[in-house]
Amino acid sequence: MRTRTLRMLAAGATALALFSGAGAAAAAPGGAPGIDAKDTLARSAPKGLHIGGAAAGGGHHADAEYPDPFTSDEPYRSLLATEFTSLTPENQMKWDHLRPSREEFAFADADDIVNFAEENGQVVRGHTLLWHSQNPAWLEEGDFSDAELRDILHEHITTVVGRYAGRVAHWEVANEIFDESGNLRDTENIWIRELGPSIIADAFRWAHEADPEAVLFFNDYNVEGLNAKADAYYALVQDLLADGVPVGGMGLQSHLGTMYGYDPSLPDNLARFGELGLETAITELDVRMELPDGAEPTPAQVAKQDEFFEFVLTSCLEEASCGSFTLWGASDRYSWVPNTFPGQGSATPWTDDLERKSAYCVLQSTLLSAQPGGAARAQHHPAYADCRAA
Ligand code: XIL
Repeated sequence: MRTRTLRMLAAGATALALFSGAGAAAAAPGGAPGIDAKDTLARSAPKGLHIGGAAAGGGHHADAEYPDPFTSDEPYRSLLATEFTSLTPENQMKWDHLRPSREEFAFADADDIVNFAEENGQVVRGHTLLWHSQNPAWLEEGDFSDAELRDILHEHITTVVGRYAGRVAHWEVANEIFDESGNLRDTENIWIRELGPSIIADAFRWAHEADPEAVLFFNDYNVEGLNAKADAYYALVQDLLADGVPVGGMGLQSHLGTMYGYDPSLPDNLARFGELGLETAITELDVRMELPDGAEPTPAQVAKQDEFFEFVLTSCLEEASCGSFTLWGASDRYSWVPNTFPGQGSATPWTDDLERKSAYCVLQSTLLSAQPGGAARAQHHPAYADCRAA
């Protein structure tokens, strides 16, 4: 609760500005059809909490029938501009997207997102620099000496982080470095396998040299609660901080499913990383469900999804260190879920047609409840009924 009180005090000073049209979200262009630009998650959030969204493109979209979402879908772009104060390139800053060859950097798509964010008064979360997945074949299958590999990573981090210095607020430097048992992925992850675990500290140091202002994060899935994988991060972060490594944040991806439940120890887990002095963040939240043969969600599934979204958002709102809450997908149309988990879907708060779902209304009313004078948490904020009726 200490956080909410702090945020409410801070928000008090700016609440009027927020609702009278000033502030980051106000600079955004008009909303998508049917979406009131004055009534967004960005505008509903208490001061001090970024509301983020993944900017869809690359990755699985490259094989889809539709054109690249971020660059060509105008209503979707308007939604991104108005609903969020933070954007994460879904794939456009990954190695396989940025690095067609060892000699080349392909920055056009990443530049588009960073420019768009700047035009709309948003911050960017860079994603990601050291990962076992979505690496180009020339890297994974190349025959490099250890010294060459080290040079390749150093050059990559220096060039990419340096290019966006001052324009990317948070970097998810190391992604998914531990397995479920809390062991380093020292076979899958090329950097750890070939160069040893000390490369992780080097990656953070190099990123810090290239942009001393950026907050540098670890990021992973299944680390929402107190478990072996989260414990491994907790231990590693303490060692790195003791060595003066510039680790600044812990990101909990939060890819949830209504059929799995959520871990109620999420608030305790956020709090322990916060106590180490780290910023914490929800970085990739979605809540998928089983939808065989394209079925519609049942009322029970919808209710569960609402509950999951509300739980994660409330956990972040109530934790002082949690500065950013990012949704992995702003529309089911572009969600990675059906592609990666066949037979599952409906994982985002917007339909295929960018209509707000029940989960959207829950998020919005939960945010509004955290504003000064917000309704008691036990009940939905009055705006919930309006949102549902819209
Ligand atoms: C996913 C993207 O959403 C897809 O478009 C892509 O095909 C695969 O990767 N954890 C991460 C994200 O850190 O980068 C992943 O994004 C989802 C899981």
